[in-house]
Parts: sequence; structure tokens; C-alpha cells
Amino acid sequence: MNSEKIVLITGANSGIGKAAAFKFAREGCTVIMACRNLELSTGVQEEIKRTTKNERVDLIKLDVSSFESIRTFCSQFKEQYEKLDVLIHNAAYANHGEKYRLSADHIELTFATNTIGPYLMTMLLVDHLKKSDDARILHASSNIVKHYFDPKKDIDVSNLRGERKDDKKFSVYNMYRDSKMALVLLTFKLAEELKSEGIKVNAIQINGAKMSKETLMKFTPAWRMIARIQNLFFPPPKKFAECYFKICMTEQFKTTTGKLINDKNEIMEPTVTNPNIKMQIKQFTGSNLYPAYAENRDNWEKVWNFCRELTRLKAE
Ligand SMILES: NC(=O)c1ccc[n+]([C@@H]2O[C@H](COP(=O)([O-])OP(=O)(O)OC[C@H]3O[C@@H](n4cnc5c(N)ncnc54)[C@H](OP(=O)(O)O)[C@@H]3O)[C@@H](O)[C@H]2O)c1
Repeated sequence: MNSEKIVLITGANSGIGKAAAFKFAREGCTVIMACRNLELSTGVQEEIKRTTKNERVDLIKLDVSSFESIRTFCSQFKEQYEKLDVLIHNAAYANHGEKYRLSADHIELTFATNTIGPYLMTMLLVDHLKKSDDARILHASSNIVKHYFDPKKDIDVSNLRGERKDDKKFSVYNMYRDSKMALVLLTFKLAEELKSEGIKVNAIQINGAKMSKETLMKFTPAWRMIARIQNLFFPPPKKFAECYFKICMTEQFKTTTGKLINDKNEIMEPTVTNPNIKMQIKQFTGSNLYPAYAENRDNWEKVWNFCRELTRLKAE
């Protein structure tokens, strides 16, 4: 029964997160919008309640780039709710063209928001997820990870603590690319770690959804122009909200875990090492292959270790 489901969505005030909050609320779930700007998000919360006629749409403040905010959020959530069925890590930092920025915990902001924060939040909510009889976690990744079809690519963790913060070559785009690959690796590792608890963990590869005016304004002018052109070809956020729902709520994905799923709701497969030309074309033009880099367990461990070290969560 959807009415028994408790669904937590980060960054639910805008874009795909907002469309997803509408979708889950319309389907009768209890929805918790985890957003950093309460003033702006209250209007969205009211709009969702009014339109869907579902009063069980809650709003709790969360800045997912800040450990303190995550801890406060999780305590409040656990006080208010008995369990958690669906956790969607949708919020992301992608302010293309911006300079290097550090989070409140002195971690590069793209990684703090897109990878480390979601990791900490999941770990703090595991006990509540365990109380669900069908717990599912979904990470929003991106087709930007296709860069990793280049076998020379490797996640660079040497500049996550401000080591080269004044480097003129710094690019949010590259950090975003790496943070989204790190999220895929974290998905695979977490799926294994949480399997015995019955918690499923998957990621969705988003190819591009129409961005709002507010999102476009976060980019520098040159990046904004590129994004405006891309927007002409992108489907509305609603398309991916439907995917979120399908992956997190339907029987089709009830036992699926440790997978990357595309926008056609197909489970993606890793590519082969040393692909021939035909395969290389398929990698870039198709939508069901992901880089072999994501299959390498050493890479899983690298992400797992830096998430643990940076959040100071110790191994069991
Ligand atoms: N749209 C695309 O073309 C595309 C392509 C590939 C992947 N994706 C992924 O899809 C997801 C949704 O993207 P979208 O296009 O819907 O973007 P969006 O409309 O810009 O939404 C991003 C959301 O994240 C929130 N957020 C950012 N930093 C946060 C923080 N520190 N704490 C809490 N919330 C924070 C934003 O809140 P504020 O409103 O307060 O800024 C906003 O609600 C993201 O993970 C993105 O990386 C999108």
C-alpha cells in the first residue's frame, strides 16, 4: 500500500526532485522534502499538498553539504518517523564555471554535496531503513560518467581538502563528473554492505532534464548559454520522476540492488575492457553500457575509504 510508504527526497524543491515529490505524493505516499531553503520550499510544499490533495507532505531543513545539518536533519527525522522506506539522494551541486569552494567541513563543495553528504546521511538512517520491509535507496547519477570510457580517467581525490584551491585550471565540471562516478561506485559498494539488512541500493543515470531558470542562474554566463541550448533537447523533469517512482516503488525492482539503471528503466551493463570500434560507438551512442572502471573493486574501496575518512565514520 502506497499510503504506508515513507519517502525522503533531497532537493525536492526544484527540477526532478520537485517532480518526484509530486509523483510520490500523488500516489499516496508520505513525502519528506529535505531542502536547504525553507522559505522557497514551503511554497512548493503547499503547492504539492493542494494539487495532490495529500496532506502528508512534510518539509525538513537539510543542507546535504554540511555534516552538522545532516546530523540535525536525521535526528529530527527519526524523532518524527518510525521507519524509512525510500531514500532518494537527488540534491546536487553543479554550479558550472564557479571557483573552487569548500563546504562547512572543509571539503570541496561538489564532492561534499554529491557524494560525501549522501554517504553520511545513509549511514545515519540505516537503522530506520532496516525497519522497512522493502527499503530502497536511489542515487541520482549522470551520463557525465561516460567520460570514464576513457581508460585513463581516475577519480582525483588529491584536491578535496583545498589542497589546490587557487588552481586556475579547477573545473566544477570535472569535480561533478568525478563525484557522480564516485556515487555509482558508492552504490555498488553500499549495495553489498547493506544486502544482509535487506536494503536495496541502486543508481539512475540521468541523461539530461530541462533545467529551471533558477538552476540556470547558478551557472556562469558561458555555461548558462550551453545549458540553455541543451534545454531545447531535454525532456521535462517529470520523465525522471516517473523513473524514480518505478525504481523505488514497483515490483519490477523489488529485488534489484547494486545496479545502474537508465532512463528506459533498463539495468545497464558494464562495457568490456579493450572494446573494439563497434563497441566504442555503442558506448557513446547507446544508453545501456557503463564504464568498466565502475566494476573495479579497488575503485569501490577508494571511494568507500575516503567517505569514511572524511566523515570520520569508523569501520565496524
Ligand atoms: N537536469 C539534468 O540535465 C541532469 C543531468 C544529469 C544528472 N542530473 C542530476 O539529477 C538530479 C536533479 O537535478 P535537477 O536537474 O533537478 O537540478 P535542480 O533543479 O538544480 O535541483 C537540484 C536540487 O538540489 C538542491 N541542492 C543543491 N545543493 C544542496 C544542498 N547543499 N543541500 C540541499 N539541497 C541542495 C537544490 O536546492 P536549491 O534550490 O536550494 O539550490 C535543488 O533543489 C541531480 O542529482 C543532478 O546532478 C540532472
